[in-house]
Amino acid sequence: MSEYKYSTLAVHAGQHPDPLTGAVNVPVYLSSTFELNGIGADKGWDYSRAGNPTRDRLELALAALEGGKTAHVFGSGMAAISALFGSLKAGDHLICSHNVYGGTARLLDLVIKNYGIEVEYVDLANLDALAAAIKPSTKLVHVESPTNPLMQLTDIAAVCALVHKSGVEVSVDNTFLSPALQSPIALGADIVMHSTTKFLNGHSDGLGGVLVATTEEQAARFHLMQKASGGILSPFECFLVLRGIKTLPLRMKQHEENGRAVAEYLSTHPKVQKIFYPGLKSHPQHELAVRQQKGFGSMMALELGSREAVGRFLAAVKLFLNAESLGGVESLASHSATTTHAALSDERRLEIGITQGLVRLSVGIEDKEDLIADLKQALAQV
Ligand SMILES: Cc1ncc(COP(=O)(O)O)c(C=O)c1O
Repeated sequence: MSEYKYSTLAVHAGQHPDPLTGAVNVPVYLSSTFELNGIGADKGWDYSRAGNPTRDRLELALAALEGGKTAHVFGSGMAAISALFGSLKAGDHLICSHNVYGGTARLLDLVIKNYGIEVEYVDLANLDALAAAIKPSTKLVHVESPTNPLMQLTDIAAVCALVHKSGVEVSVDNTFLSPALQSPIALGADIVMHSTTKFLNGHSDGLGGVLVATTEEQAARFHLMQKASGGILSPFECFLVLRGIKTLPLRMKQHEENGRAVAEYLSTHPKVQKIFYPGLKSHPQHELAVRQQKGFGSMMALELGSREAVGRFLAAVKLFLNAESLGGVESLASHSATTTHAALSDERRLEIGITQGLVRLSVGIEDKEDLIADLKQALAQV
């Protein structure tokens, strides 16, 4: 399959016709268990926690889209990250980008630290700080690029080149761009993670997560986490992601076009005090975005100055729904401080730049002129 271009892979990788019936869509195997041929002799599957034919197809598709060896899907993005961090051992040192999705920080601070895994947050834009943080027990550097919600980028190739010298692995949360717009493995990353809930599924109708492995050792480790801890994705939700993936390239083109248009419009609006979107030339990391990404996507954050201003904005938008999450066909707007980053203390939020006046936009695939008109009328009421 790897000889095919991206849009072809999206339709065909893992999605070949069912050998039994010729069905062009991957069947949903709603079976917890599978009949054996004899003692210890299965027909490829024995129990759906360990493996399921529908899940196998999604895992083939995701490995192909990310250019990895294997993929391992979980019941949510957080279940995938839990499996990644949970596959470390007590005494291991884990470095995490200082600015990540609030759920990732919550998992690290309230769960993973209790396992005796040492967690350290580092500003990965500062390679000297990263080099100084590496120690013999460091096993993993976890990157989120762009970050949720401030769209800060990490130079993935530079981080990989630096930490690989010490035998440390790099995992990249690629949720905000999807494999259509960023290929971390091609930049040197060892593991890619996604919340498939977002762009990969694309229709806001199911949660899911994935870890893409590049080595046999990682594949065995992540498969063990699926089987041993059991946080796997159900066959029906695997089918939904498989269906979403077929239109990922097309959807991402529209997300990209709309994201750029909305960001351009907002960048000159007097009520928008600051806009965070790496596609704008004024963004401090625009050059890095051009170098390492295949597009800028449709996620952005705006500073409106106060919680009250965000409240008025969210009450006034009509097409943009006031809802958490992102990456679906519909446009969403949300107040990061009380949604995605509610788990962080006020001090920690301010330290990383998430103010009460910040609103995050996930620009959908509607008509861009309608979206801009909606934002215009809502900002007039701020
Ligand atoms: C960047 C990022 N990573 C991981 C997650 C967690 O994914 P899920 O909600 O599917 O558990 C999210 C959720 O918003 C996210 O934005």
